[in-house]
Amino acid sequence: MEPIELGTKRLLLRPFSLNDIDDLIEYANSPGWERYLVNVPYPYTRQVAEKFLAMFLDTANWQQQGILANFAIQLEGKVVGEVYLNQQKYDRENERAEIGYSLSSLHWNKGLTTEAARAVVNWAFQTYSFNRLYATCDPRNVGSWRVMEKLGMKREGWLRNHVVWNDEVRDQLYYGILREEWRFNPP
Ligand SMILES: CC(C)(COP(=O)(O)OP(=O)(O)OC[C@H]1O[C@@H](n2cnc3c(N)ncnc32)[C@H](O)[C@@H]1OP(=O)(O)O)[C@@H](O)C(=O)NCCC(=O)NCCS
Repeated sequence: MEPIELGTKRLLLRPFSLNDIDDLIEYANSPGWERYLVNVPYPYTRQVAEKFLAMFLDTANWQQQGILANFAIQLEGKVVGEVYLNQQKYDRENERAEIGYSLSSLHWNKGLTTEAARAVVNWAFQTYSFNRLYATCDPRNVGSWRVMEKLGMKREGWLRNHVVWNDEVRDQLYYGILREEWRFNPP
């Protein structure tokens, strides 16, 4: 797939490169970043960052992991977060994909993740034939489900004791937006 870049008012969304390693380590170590994340290795060392970036230089590996896109969020020349679009096997068969995001805590609550994710939702529905996009988060992660709601996603479920991470059993909220909802009211 061709490298995609998406511009928004304040941000450039573009592929990660190996040169982003210091920015990546910095935002992944910003205070509180990991609190509600699951399946993200922590502490976020240089080795973890190298592995993450290496994955994005290997397209075959991407596809194996079900990754359709992973945009670095660039703000004023610096990478401060990411937005990804994933599609596991059952998602592919069912014309749906998952969106996810994270941002350095130095920049929370300025609408930046919503701005970035909105561009990716629009791009995703325009580029693929998805019937729906979905996202999940920890119910305590209010900032995350607020982003989902601002994207026009609807809360579809509260999955109790759904994941175990760091010896903690956690609930997950499940949000989704249908293509027709997006078409008539793009975020
Ligand atoms: C979740 C996350 C991506 C949100 O990013 P952000 O750039 O701060 O999001 P936005 O500014 O676009 O929107 C956040 C909204 O949540 C609101 N919010 C945040 N914390 C809140 C709280 N404790 N109570 C009520 N509202 C809250 C903000 O006010 C804002 O809503 P508003 O625009 O209506 O005021 C960011 O906190 C993050 O990266 N966290 C770490 C990684 C992570 O958890 N990723 C998501 C995994 S599911």
